[in-house]
Amino acid sequence: MNSGQNIIQLREILRCLAQVVSTAALYSPEHPKVLSGIPGVIDPLQQFLAKEQELTLIVTDNVMLYLGKPLEQDPNVQRLARIFTRLEIGFVRIVPGVDSADLRQLIRCVSGQESLDVLRTRSSKISIGFVDVDSKGDGDRGTSAEAYSGLTPLQLEELKNTYESIAGQEQTDFRHVISLVAGFIEAFRREANPLMALVPIRELDEYTFTHSINVGILNIAQGMSLGIEGQLLHDLGVAGMLHDSGKTRIDRRIIQKPGSLTEEEFAVIKSHPSYGAQYLMNQAGVPAVAVMSAYEHHMRYDLQGYPQVPAGWQLNLCSQMTMVSDTFDALRTRRIYKGAWDFPKVCGHMLTLAGSQLNPDLTINFLKLLADLGETLPDLPQDDVIPARNNYCE
Ligand SMILES: [Fe+2]
Ligand SMILES: [Fe+2]
Repeated sequence: MNSGQNIIQLREILRCLAQVVSTAALYSPEHPKVLSGIPGVIDPLQQFLAKEQELTLIVTDNVMLYLGKPLEQDPNVQRLARIFTRLEIGFVRIVPGVDSADLRQLIRCVSGQESLDVLRTRSSKISIGFVDVDSKGDGDRGTSAEAYSGLTPLQLEELKNTYESIAGQEQTDFRHVISLVAGFIEAFRREANPLMALVPIRELDEYTFTHSINVGILNIAQGMSLGIEGQLLHDLGVAGMLHDSGKTRIDRRIIQKPGSLTEEEFAVIKSHPSYGAQYLMNQAGVPAVAVMSAYEHHMRYDLQGYPQVPAGWQLNLCSQMTMVSDTFDALRTRRIYKGAWDFPKVCGHMLTLAGSQLNPDLTINFLKLLADLGETLPDLPQDDVIPARNNYCE
């Protein structure tokens, strides 16, 4: 086969594989979107193997090689390479005869549902080899959660440092947050489904960290769906990422408490919007809407939340968008006080909050955004579309 065509076909296979693996990590390996995506991988893969007899991909340090040469670093190849690197997979070899069952098994293993070792016993057509890492002899090959973050280890480290300096009330350099948001916006323009970038909750003590990334991503998705662009879109993402900054000052034992909170504990929790806003207000490079969102994100649309404000308070629209993103991520993911909810349950519940806790127009727009991305949702009003405009956060 012409090697150019060969590489084009391989990239298409990897593009489809990256999408089903990400979908499996975000929802589950049995989700209909995963199952419907499998033919898109297996059909061209079988054609490829009919000509090439074998497909061996070598992965080293987040780079994927085919026939000894690095594949061009498009987002899908990069995403797969990062996943395989994180799982310490050194190579993947696929031979003719591979079928959908083999591929589903690979997806279950790579998405963290089953041990990678299972693949060795259940598939004779797909084999994997592990990188020899001395430091980890305990079989811990990482989790799907970190593998799908879409962030490089350096970016993760920088972001963690940012949050630690917030916790220490130091002057913080927010350039990392700002460049991350720019990266997400860039990625969203290339990828069809921005929700692919959401970070599944990893460990409860990283709640604030992963939740903040997700709220930033969801804010960007909402903003784009409303036609917001440029600096405002950027600020909206930053606002989402920093909305819970004040939580870094709250005693972790309270944040992680599984049972219901005492009145005193709840009073402490309720201080995080003020803490966050006060802190961010004095930091260079933080957009004003991020300060507002930190302060207002628990006020509720009907102003019955906290901090309490005088009647007639005008909530910033950016804060109201952050409320929608915040509520969605809190309901969707597992928390110490509740399990993860599936999309229909989350969306059904959000509809009950529309008009009281959440801005109804923004909630409906958000649920429609999910619907456009292929989710099965409860019935939604059909004509209630918010017109695009550019002054939502001013
Ligand atoms: Fe909060
Ligand atoms: Fe939050």
